[in-house]
Amino acid sequence: MKKAVYPGSFDPITIGHMEILQRSLEVFDEVTILLAVNPNKKSTFSVDERLEMMRNATKDLKGVKVDFCPGLTVDYCHKNNATHLIRGLRAVTDFEYEFQLSAANHFAAPDIDMVFFMAKQENTFISSSTINELYRAGVDISPLVPPIVVEMYKRKTK
Ligand code: COA
Repeated sequence: MKKAVYPGSFDPITIGHMEILQRSLEVFDEVTILLAVNPNKKSTFSVDERLEMMRNATKDLKGVKVDFCPGLTVDYCHKNNATHLIRGLRAVTDFEYEFQLSAANHFAAPDIDMVFFMAKQENTFISSSTINELYRAGVDISPLVPPIVVEMYKRKTK
């Protein structure tokens, strides 16, 4: 069984992430969508809220697991017998960051390889912080996120 891990901050999960996840399921038998920690980021949603959104958004997809890892993603891969890390690329600006992340992962665990999917053109402008900004400005974000995310924003601002 070919297993992969798709790590990210998912703050919140968007249709851009869903696109990458769905495409990765065509290549791997099992994909864990992993809430990982980027120490340079301040999050809008708590770990539990993000996991709830990730679980709900992926509940109808076969072969998907949702998990949280406070440490290195490559260690998580080793513990769970995953061979690949998945990332999405939206624009050339993502490349340098992903190139460095990939090099750091390779240094820590040369046996874990990374697979990149190019985002569909219509999703290239989407990021979690853009969603947060649009929501705060009162723009309808429902076309850009799974329905649970809209619900969670409403719950949060009640
Ligand atoms: N569609 C929509 N948005 C996308 C996207 C896509 N296809 N691909 C990337 N993004 C956005 C995300 O929404 C996020 O937006 P934001 O910056 O506004 O929040 C941004 O691109 C960055 O993506 P994300 O996948 O969340 O990465 P990150 O930089 O926040 O986190 C980790 C990267 C969590 C995977 C990385 O820090 C990590 O691996 N941490 C664990 C520790 C570790 O193993 N470190 C590596 C060795 S040092």
